[in-house]
Amino acid sequence: MTSTNGKLHILGLGGTLRERSTSRWALQRALQAAEAAGATTELLALYDLNLPMFIPDKPVEEYDPSVVRLLDAARKADGLLISTAGYHGTLVGATKNALDFLEFLSEDERPYLHERVVGLIATASGELAGVNAINALVHTVYALRGTVAPLLVPIPRPREVFDAEGQVVNEKIAGRLDQLGRLVAETVGKFASSVELEP
Ligand SMILES: Cc1cc2nc3c(=O)[nH]c(=O)nc-3n(C[C@H](O)[C@H](O)[C@H](O)COP(=O)(O)O)c2cc1C
Repeated sequence: MTSTNGKLHILGLGGTLRERSTSRWALQRALQAAEAAGATTELLALYDLNLPMFIPDKPVEEYDPSVVRLLDAARKADGLLISTAGYHGTLVGATKNALDFLEFLSEDERPYLHERVVGLIATASGELAGVNAINALVHTVYALRGTVAPLLVPIPRPREVFDAEGQVVNEKIAGRLDQLGRLVAETVGKFASSVELEP
């Protein structure tokens, strides 16, 4: 496990490529809860990161520095909060593209998202796309050897959930996002202090 100043570190990754992204607002809320629970946090909003497309076999040195920024942040993280949105029935392509770049972590001592707890959030206008997006992300996180936190937060009808400044005005959703942020921070803490198994 890594830590910053002795604290466990949670990376928030996501939002869409829309400036006023509700999935980024949701992520910010959950990250605040993780921080309140004692973790250090970092937000990597895909809108700010502006990643190129992942191209298999292209060396990391040939990519835009945003890719190295993502990889460094993922390497440093003890846990992640990933927030996406539902596009055409499932997760936004930009989120999946960002996660495809984690292929560059395949040879790490902790490959991919190994030993990282990952909390999942998705906003979508309707009832189904956010759930589908989260379910798709569950498979991706498992494929990347991460551990999915046992609380999934799909957020339907985001227009009714956030105010104009991006604050969560729906108490039930606010509670779920807070619970998820806390859960990821606490679970990461338990992972870090768990007894090593005998070889
Ligand atoms: C191209 C596109 C496709 C979308 N497809 C769906 C969909 O299939 N189901 C749905 O419920 N909402 C759909 N939406 C609505 C988004 O899920 C909703 O606007 C969400 O808040 C976007 O996330 P953001 O606020 O983080 O950008 C779509 C939006 C766009 C732009």
